[in-house]
Formats: sequence, C-alpha cells, structure tokens
Amino acid sequence: MQPPFRTLARENLNAADEQLVVAALAVRLQAYAPYSRFLVGAAVQTASGKQFFGCNVENVSYGLTNCAERTAIFSAVTAGERSFTSIALASAGGVTPCGACRQVLAEFAPALRVLIVDANADDLLREWSLANLLPGMFSADDLAKD
Ligand code: THU
Repeated sequence: MQPPFRTLARENLNAADEQLVVAALAVRLQAYAPYSRFLVGAAVQTASGKQFFGCNVENVSYGLTNCAERTAIFSAVTAGERSFTSIALASAGGVTPCGACRQVLAEFAPALRVLIVDANADDLLREWSLANLLPGMFSADDLAKD
C-alpha cells in the first residue's frame, strides 16, 4: 500500500519551500515549552507570497497551550491573510499537527500542503496533504445541511 505522504530530499526543494523549512526550524527555537520541553516551529506560506511564523506557547495551566501551527495561522490572519498554500512544521522526530490544529488549518486551507521536518534529521522531509491528515473534514458547507 502507498504511504499517505511523499518523501522529499531537502536538496530538491524549491526556493520558497526551502525558506519555509529554514524558518520553521529557526522559529522552533523560540518555543516557550518549559512543561513538555517539546519545541515546535511552524511557517505558513500565503497565496500572496508571504510567510508567517509560530511556535508553541505553553502555560502552567496546561490546557491553555497554543500549538505552533495555530500561532502561525493566527499571526497571518491578524495581518489580513486568509489564503494559504503550504505549512512547514519542525519538531524533534517530525510530528504531524494535532487534531485541533488540523481543524484550524482546514478552516482556511482544506487543500494545504503540510511539510514535516524532523529537527534532528532535517535533510529529509515528508509532504502530506491536509486531506490525508483530516479525512472527512467538517466544513462550513456542512452547516447548510441543517
Ligand atoms: N505541539 C505543537 O505545537 N504542535 C503540534 O503539532 C504538536 C504539539 C506542542 C503543544 C505542546 O506545547 C507540546 O507540543 C507538547 O504537546
């Protein structure tokens, strides 16, 4: 069976994707994660050609934590951007977005490309589609059914 992601070599990335990966790795180091000690960085590419960044920001009241992906998307939306083509996500081991972040990404970009970077082995990447990460996604169209 085919894996649900594509494996990419870093050296084959185009310039925009390479910038996105560099940014995700760099912003990961800004993570405020004193409780989990798990650092995550995200860089999102807008359809208009800009990039926005986010890291995870934890809180002593653990449930208030904001993931890197949501920080990046909220930062972009705050700047007036609502259309996204790709996101790069950097972490140790190269995790995929949590369920809550998948739904937030789906709000703005159901066809988003998701580039997963392992901060410990950043020459090899995985490219997912959000559709593969969140099959059967709930969308605004569903509200019209009631
Ligand atoms: N985290 C993210 O920022 N993004 C993910 O995709 C997975 C989890 C953060 C939340 C928390 O600060 C830490 O990683 C451990 O769960």
